[in-house]
Amino acid sequence: MPYTEHLMNPFGIDIDLADGAMHPPDTHLVRRASDMRGYYADEAALERLIAQQDDPLHYEVFEKHIPEEPGHLLLCISKLQPGCVGDECFMTKGHYHTVSGTAEVYLCLAGQGYMLMKTADGRCAAEPMTRGRMVYVPPHWAHRSINTSDEPLVSFCVYPAEAGHNYGDIATEGFPKRVYRRDRTVVMEP
Ligand code: F6R
Ligand code: ZN
Repeated sequence: MPYTEHLMNPFGIDIDLADGAMHPPDTHLVRRASDMRGYYADEAALERLIAQQDDPLHYEVFEKHIPEEPGHLLLCISKLQPGCVGDECFMTKGHYHTVSGTAEVYLCLAGQGYMLMKTADGRCAAEPMTRGRMVYVPPHWAHRSINTSDEPLVSFCVYPAEAGHNYGDIATEGFPKRVYRRDRTVVMEP
């Protein structure tokens, strides 16, 4: 088929670098505290948060519609709220890519935290995230954002359009490390 038959038109979008909003996104994915059951060490603290704060916003992903086909790149804004479950810092669920040999670039626009990464064979790495810092997530590394600051952790993410998201394996395996804030000090354990 000649490429002209499925040619996509170029486009541009505006991104508010301060608050992470994309104008306009095509899809807006919302994760609330209740979506995070099973992810935090202190399950009772998560249930208290859900009950006392009416199931608060946990994180959002703003995306554009781009065909999920090789050759394209998917892009999104990830915005993770500040806070703790017990004393464990708010985090995203984390995932491997379904096509696990696909990488991802995260450019941090606001906030502070970590990109926690692990491989299926047990390697673990944590890269600091702060405004202006790019983190490269190589192929085969599961990845999760963790917010250690008092403001939203906002990142711009780009990855191959065929990557897909595998949440099941990491939900079963977990990550080898957790990040806590105790007396305003950030602690990574074990
Ligand atoms: C896409 C990607 C990010 C995350 C987002 C939410 O491949 O890594 O856009 O999807 O930070 O985190 P998860 O997907 O772990 O809920
Ligand atoms: Zn990803």
